[in-house]
Amino acid sequence: MTMERKLADKTATVGIIGLGYVGLPLAVEFAKVGYPVIGFDVDPKKVEKLMKGQNYIDDVKDADLKKVVKDKKMSATNDFKQLNNTDAIFICVPTPFSPNKEPDVSYIIAAANEVAGNLKKGQVIILKSTTFPETTTKIVEPILEETGLKAGEDFYLAFSPERIDPGRKNFTTATTPVVLGGVTPECTRQAKMVIEQVTNHVHVVSSPEAAEMTKLLENIFRSVNIALVNELATLSDRMGNIDIWEVIEAAATKPFGFMPFFPGPGIGGHCILVDPYYLSWKAREFDFHTNFIELAAETNESMPYYVFSLMVRALSEHGVPLTHAKILFLGAAFKKDVDDIRNSPAIKVMEILLGKGTTNLIYNDPYVPELKVNSSTFRSQELTPELLRLVDCVMITTAHSEYDYEFIVENSQLVIDTRNATKNVKNHREKIVRLGSGKV
Ligand SMILES: NC(=O)c1ccc[n+]([C@@H]2O[C@H](COP(=O)([O-])OP(=O)(O)OC[C@H]3O[C@@H](n4cnc5c(N)ncnc54)[C@H](O)[C@@H]3O)[C@@H](O)[C@H]2O)c1
Repeated sequence: MTMERKLADKTATVGIIGLGYVGLPLAVEFAKVGYPVIGFDVDPKKVEKLMKGQNYIDDVKDADLKKVVKDKKMSATNDFKQLNNTDAIFICVPTPFSPNKEPDVSYIIAAANEVAGNLKKGQVIILKSTTFPETTTKIVEPILEETGLKAGEDFYLAFSPERIDPGRKNFTTATTPVVLGGVTPECTRQAKMVIEQVTNHVHVVSSPEAAEMTKLLENIFRSVNIALVNELATLSDRMGNIDIWEVIEAAATKPFGFMPFFPGPGIGGHCILVDPYYLSWKAREFDFHTNFIELAAETNESMPYYVFSLMVRALSEHGVPLTHAKILFLGAAFKKDVDDIRNSPAIKVMEILLGKGTTNLIYNDPYVPELKVNSSTFRSQELTPELLRLVDCVMITTAHSEYDYEFIVENSQLVIDTRNATKNVKNHREKIVRLGSGKV
């Protein structure tokens, strides 16, 4: 039966490899529109939870997941032989970097090997993990073609980057346009048919390389612009009479040609911090140095150290020696209203403090019950007036919406605000040291 037919009568089975922030929402979307979905993950705990209908990703509704599992529309397994029972496969595995900031595509290679071991004619394979150009054609395609089957003839291979923004409510899988580039025109056509089942708009580009580069451009664009405002925030603090947040708000009134980006304690997560390095690494193969990427990374990665220096200064003005200071971090996640702590700047600042011998660190994060920093494990403490009064300094590293900032400032002695979260606080503003406010 052709893919058209299987899609039309909803018998096409969709396989999703990697059931994390990207893979699980996609799996549930396909199951919700009526396709049988098999999720594959090497983590037995995730497989076990999913088989019980238990959700672990905030962007997925608990009820949706429960329903598709109960209705037997979705199952999860670590038995990769079941890939052979699928018609379309999405690869959504991690693409981290090494400690030396070199791309680690070992997860993609492992997933491609599993697909190759179970490849059959007519299957559509779509790589979604963010990666450098030529990963699809020079890494994945050769692994799959070792089977003797050929891309574009026997199976169909494409790259289609993920644009999910965890925590965002105004765009969903259905309403976010998807970019797609196949290895051959037939690969693109086949992959487009599959993706269109869950998305309204698929934008086709001429090759997997163009699609891979599109994702990197999107993230590098953010990295460079965040670096620009981070630099201007530190300049504002040096000049002493300009509040960068006020300036950004004013510039954002321009209805064209400007897009607001905001400073902070550094960038974290799995995308903006990591992806630019994928391209700068690849560029070196062509004797090319991506100066914008390097400069942006240098600026953004200096921010946790800058925030640390703000803290040292503020504590010394309060007569508290750094090594004796009790410091409460508000927010461990890398951005507001999510539980993702990967490469979180809060953790980076805590590491810097621990390295300087400041061991009295406490944190609260409604989304993150436990946190590992170096070899120490911390547990989120309840945010009470007593706790706020007990500490020498409260550091706002993540501006979660549910924090009551008036209450926080009222009960604290000193608040270092790296996110402009205290913007609307009316009382006791003298206690606040705000990054980029020009008054630190
Ligand atoms: N998180 C985001 O907001 C986001 C947005 C866009 C793109 N991306 C990209 O999507 C990819 C996946 O990111 P994520 O955030 O979902 O990662 P994640 O860590 O949340 O999930 C990845 C999952 O893959 C599993 N896994 C690892 N190796 C595997 C293998 N060989 N076979 C099967 N499963 C395996 C892991 O156990 C994990 O559950 C990355 O390339 C990332 O850069 C992420």
